[in-house]
Formats: sequence, structure tokens, C-alpha cells
Amino acid sequence: MKLLNLFIALATVTASCTASPQPAKQDHPEQNKPEQSEGPKTHAATGKTLVAYYSFTGNCRAIVNALTSSIEADVLEILPAEEGLDYAANNYEIGSSLIAAIRNNPSDPASYPAIKPVKKDASNYDTIIIVTPLWWSNMAAPMQTYLFQNGSKMAGKTIGLIVSSASSGISSVVADAKRLIPSGNFLQDSLWIRASEVNQASELTASWCSKMFPSNQEDTTMKVTITAAGKAFTATIEGSETGKAFIQRLPMTLEMSELNGNEKYCYGVALPQNDSRYDRIEAGDIMLYSGDCVVLFYGLAGGYNYTRIGKIEDITGLADALGRGSVSVKFEKL
Ligand SMILES: Cc1cc2nc3c(=O)[nH]c(=O)nc-3n(C[C@H](O)[C@H](O)[C@H](O)COP(=O)(O)O)c2cc1C
Repeated sequence: MKLLNLFIALATVTASCTASPQPAKQDHPEQNKPEQSEGPKTHAATGKTLVAYYSFTGNCRAIVNALTSSIEADVLEILPAEEGLDYAANNYEIGSSLIAAIRNNPSDPASYPAIKPVKKDASNYDTIIIVTPLWWSNMAAPMQTYLFQNGSKMAGKTIGLIVSSASSGISSVVADAKRLIPSGNFLQDSLWIRASEVNQASELTASWCSKMFPSNQEDTTMKVTITAAGKAFTATIEGSETGKAFIQRLPMTLEMSELNGNEKYCYGVALPQNDSRYDRIEAGDIMLYSGDCVVLFYGLAGGYNYTRIGKIEDITGLADALGRGSVSVKFEKL
């Protein structure tokens, strides 16, 4: 049970908090069901893309949420036919026995736990990205069922794999995917996101997409000038939905309040929110807090949920320009 204890410990890593404008929200990934965003996407695979995922405790759901903010895709959630099963109860007894049944007889349809009928046909897609938890070193059983039943429809298609585990390496999950989709054209790198890294899923999935789908990548970053006390700084704004909405509001002058000797903030700027937890924030980071508060950091911080808006490239003189109290800050397109 040493391994079991290890991955439980790693799955429950918490980070320390520092003060922020308002109490930070609790993370409830299971209440944060991925929806297809209508906003602009930074990456696009060739043709139509399907993201198929299974999630028991919400990590893969949060990963899909982050992934679909940077890639244009339809989303399919795989659901076990039997509801309410606790795969982790009694030392992971149910999850363990489901995996053992598949390992013992992988060619027998009866080895795979039933799933609910799926509402999207994999045949209609060119690229399929599988997002799955790891169970006892293998692919989680419900996702194995989906691929056992639908893998033949994925022949010749581009297949991406994103796996979340507490700590175990993902090579056996990659092998499961290749067994279940024998004629898939697998993207060379699978993405492994540990449970403790799910708060960085936006950055990790965006970086993976930019490597996996480089030919379609647009440079959607934008530059702005930020002026305080007569000194101008150049910032790069994210090509995300949030960044684009921010740009659309410019020019804008904000009366920003002081907090903690490291940040200036201003409420009342509602922008699309796609939060991740940030354990390290640096001077020059421009973040959205709580969906309507623009925060400009001039010192180190971290431990709260934010959506990144952008970053000042050269912070020389930033702390002096922002001063010790409230300050008027002008944001305009470069
Ligand atoms: C039945 C079961 C077995 C698991 N086995 C492992 C394991 O062998 N190694 C590991 O690192 N994590 C293991 N985990 C942890 C999950 O892989 C990890 O928490 C993952 O992020 C969960 O994704 P989800 O929240 O989308 O379900 C297991 C979890 C369950 C429920």
C-alpha cells in the first residue's frame, strides 16, 4: 500500500495563501463542467477535433476545461453506466478489480465496465484527443471501454493523449491507448499532468497544443502601453478570450488601489474568467481576479486563483511608478 499512500498524498498537495483583494474562491472542478467556449481559440488541429474525456474526481474535467479554451473542439464525456460507484473506496477496491478484469482478458468485451451511450460519433472527426485518469498504472476502466468500443472508428485519425495521475508514470496508459486504437496516428508526445499540476492545466495544455499543432498556430498576442506617474511600460496581452476582451476595452484608465506592497487592483472590469491557481506571481504580471478585478503586480505573490491577462516585459521602475498608495494607471493599445 506504499504506492497507494504516495499517490493519495500527492493528490492532496495544498499551497500556502497570501492576502488578496477578497477571499479566494474554493475550487470545485466537478461543478465546472467543460462547455464549448464561443471565444477565439489560439490553436486548431487539422479538420474537426473531438476531445473525449473521463473524470472520476474532477481533475481531467478541469484539464478539458483548460484545453478547450485554447483549441477548437467538440467535447464528449464518458460516463459509467452504473452511477454512484466509489472507485476509491476500500483501498480502491472497485477500481482495482475493474483494471484487473481488463488486464486478465483484454480481448473479451465482458471485461470492460458498461458506459452510457455516447452522443458523438468518432468517425466524424479528424483529430481525437483522449483525456483520461490513470488507474493502477493503466488507463481508467471507463475510458478503456469507450476506446474498446470505438477505437476502430479512429483508424487513420490523429490521436492525442493527455493523462492525469497522482504520481505514476503514464507509459502503460500510452500502451493501452495504442492497443485500443491500433491504427491511430498518435501524436508523438503524450501530455502527463499530475494531480498536483492541474492548477497549471491552462499553461500545460496551451504549450502542448502549440507543439502538437504548430502549423495552425496564430500569433494572437497583443501589445499595450501601461502608463503610471508619467512612465510608460510595454505589456504583452494573452491571445485568450480574456486578453482579447481586455484589449477591446482600451483605452482605459483605472484608479487602482494598493494592497500588500506588491499589487494594485481595481474592481469593475468584467472580463471572461478562466481561472487557474497560481502559486507564483511575479512583478509585471497582469491578472484578472474574481472575474472583474484587474490586478497589476509589482512584487512576488501567489496562492490564489486568477485568469492571466498579460505581462509587462521590462519592469524596471515599475514599483516606483506605481508608488505606495492608490494610483491612476492608463492602459492603451501600442
Ligand atoms: C481507482 C483509482 C486508481 C488510481 N491509481 C493510481 C495509481 O496507480 N497511480 C497514481 O499515480 N494515481 C492513481 N490514481 C489517482 C488518479 O490517477 C489521479 O488522482 C487523477 O488525477 C484523477 O483524475 P480524475 O480526477 O479526472 O478522476 C488512482 C485513482 C483511482 C480512482
